[in-house]
Amino acid sequence: MNNNKKHVLFIGAGRMAQALIEGVNKKEFSILVGNNGNEKRLHDVREIYDVETTNHWQQEVSMMDIIILALPPESHDSILADLADLMNGQLVITVAAGIGPTYLESKLPKGTPVAWVMPNTAAKLGKSMTLYALGQNVKQEQQDWLEALINGIGEFEKVTEQQIHELTAVTGSAPAFIYRVAEALEKITLESGVSQEQARKLVANMIAGSAEMLKTNADPAELADEVATPGGSTAAGLEVLDTNHLDHLMIDAIEACRQKAMVQD
Ligand SMILES: NC(=O)c1ccc[n+]([C@@H]2O[C@H](COP(=O)([O-])OP(=O)(O)OC[C@H]3O[C@@H](n4cnc5c(N)ncnc54)[C@H](OP(=O)(O)O)[C@@H]3O)[C@@H](O)[C@H]2O)c1
Repeated sequence: MNNNKKHVLFIGAGRMAQALIEGVNKKEFSILVGNNGNEKRLHDVREIYDVETTNHWQQEVSMMDIIILALPPESHDSILADLADLMNGQLVITVAAGIGPTYLESKLPKGTPVAWVMPNTAAKLGKSMTLYALGQNVKQEQQDWLEALINGIGEFEKVTEQQIHELTAVTGSAPAFIYRVAEALEKITLESGVSQEQARKLVANMIAGSAEMLKTNADPAELADEVATPGGSTAAGLEVLDTNHLDHLMIDAIEACRQKAMVQD
């Protein structure tokens, strides 16, 4: 056994906790999972991920290095109140929408290291584009632990708390916009008489290939030009999108997400 293993307590055992747990390097971290009393869920988590679980996470806090809150935003207040009496320097990470480092710091003892991690649903495939922001008291070593933990669910980028508030609409919500585009393209693909399976393959791989092209750092406008010969068929399609102001539509959609998040936070 690696004695330098860091001890991580997950409070919450749902989808996001499980995506993170699956990606964690068990040689570096030992995992303990608690929840809100759903015994079946804890049993499943124990069996599937080969981790320890507890019905009394409060009793375990003092032995932990890291505490991950994988709970709904509205459950945070009561859990943070419980934690505030039990803390002795653990790094506290939340994955909840709207619960930034400033909020965590205001609820926990002075000097507590805190962080906010915002993954997206692709975390369950290890393909999340995750944002994270740190509070004021996080040491370099603790930041390294955090990055090692979220490395298992995909790519990540450190930004400010304010940037997470603003950019969750892009990394968290905009995947749904892409799925809407995929839905429309699948529908029109099916009209050519291919099977549902073929339509999915065509559309999914087209989007994945386009994403790979973007990841080469090529400029999206140049990539579009590369596909579209002037006066050709793709250019005719692009003209429809441009005339109908796809860019404005995207901006409005992102803005609507932000406005709604601001009301909810
Ligand atoms: N799912 C995503 O793709 C995604 C993406 C970004 C951020 N998030 C954020 O991640 C957080 C968790 O989301 P999720 O999708 O994993 O939710 P979920 O599948 O519904 O799981 C929620 C978990 O929280 C536990 N819980 C709720 N209240 C609790 C309490 N008072 N004490 C202890 N445990 C409590 C539940 O316990 P039981 O097992 O006992 O019911 C359950 O294990 C949310 O804040 C969400 O905004 C999720």
